Amino acid sequence: MLTGKRILLIVSGGIAAFKSLELIRRLRERGASVRCVLTEAGAKFVTPLSLQALSEDRVYSDMFSLTDESEMGHIQLSRDADLLVMAPATADLLARMAAGLADDLAATVLLATDKPVLVAPAMNVRMWTHAATVANVETLRRRGVHFVGPNDGAMACNEFGPGRMSEPAEILSAIESVLVPREQPLAGKRAVVTSGPTREAIDPVRYISNHSSGKQGHAIASALAALGAQVTLVSGPVALGDPPGLRTVRVDSADQMLAACLAAGRIDIAVCAAAVADWKAARPTAAKLKKKAGAAPPTLELALNPDILATLAKPGPQRPALVVGFAAETENLVANAIDKRRRKGCDWIVANDVSPASGTFGGERNTVHLISAAGVESWPTLSKDDVAMRLAGRVALHFSQPTKAEAAE
Ligand code: CTP
Repeated sequence: MLTGKRILLIVSGGIAAFKSLELIRRLRERGASVRCVLTEAGAKFVTPLSLQALSEDRVYSDMFSLTDESEMGHIQLSRDADLLVMAPATADLLARMAAGLADDLAATVLLATDKPVLVAPAMNVRMWTHAATVANVETLRRRGVHFVGPNDGAMACNEFGPGRMSEPAEILSAIESVLVPREQPLAGKRAVVTSGPTREAIDPVRYISNHSSGKQGHAIASALAALGAQVTLVSGPVALGDPPGLRTVRVDSADQMLAACLAAGRIDIAVCAAAVADWKAARPTAAKLKKKAGAAPPTLELALNPDILATLAKPGPQRPALVVGFAAETENLVANAIDKRRRKGCDWIVANDVSPASGTFGGERNTVHLISAAGVESWPTLSKDDVAMRLAGRVALHFSQPTKAEAAE
């Protein structure tokens, strides 16, 4: 997909620099050529030799080398690419870029370029959330710089939170969405996608939830956006960054998720990929539940959560033209999903096996069956990104030519 595209990869100093090696490999597998600029700090984490071996090109690091300048001046270096990618991008390099400094080769090419720039930040959580970095990121975004990540997670510095560099696969799909102009068959369509788990409070410190990672739902939201849809992603608590190119609303509970879906207004497409908790605590307490010596454990009384999918699929003038649900099953997958499609009133069900042996929850791959009025279609095991692209493609096809069975329904 990236055949002939030229990437200038700027590797700055961070423990995540090792992931850039994998990124180079994947970019080259897709047909792109990669040329690297390594900052002085970056060279403390990866060697020029490993970048050179993987990119099969020379690595640029010294701005004032006369040999470099005679072979390829820094202006030409910055413009000879289709895209500049900073991965990892440190707080320091982002700050220098926002300020327009040109105090090393990386900053200089960033200032001199006339090409799009994609940034994959990686830093300590406090540095990422510091007002200075927040302001720099805002400035850069305003100037049209693209961002991917960072993700939440445990960091090398033993802290937890946003700051981990996105995975190579995520950076790759961000690169593709910047570089590959896609057909936009869903332009003008509005979509809502729910994703991730919900979190139902028992008291201020405890909650009911599940293992959903949000990977599949987030990938679907991105895939619909890539085909031109205007997407609102309503996400429960997940460790993923907000995907570029769409609006993300973060919620905790099922009630909040439903409210956010309804607040999105009139939509054409609803995809409910969230693993919504079926039940919530009937009476969550305002104060933390305390153990009392000798007393029996408290009984947790549950109340039913709203069914977001069934609510959105209810017939009426507001009903989206296409409502897609998921069926997470551990047994009798297809039969249960066919029944679920009828019960929930949705148009399609994407049925996936979530038994522990399938590795679906939190994993990278998914084996699904698409159930519609036309029947059951079993897809091969695919990456969650590929499931998403295929589903988005089917959605686009549906709007261009609904099948006879669907049209008759
Ligand atoms: N769903 C929803 N709101 C709920 C429960 C589920 O929107 N309160 C949606 C999910 O996003 C998914 C579909 O309904 O698209 C099916 O979810 P699943 O958990 O498989 O079904 P359940 O409704 O929990 O049914 P069952 O208990 O029979 O498994």
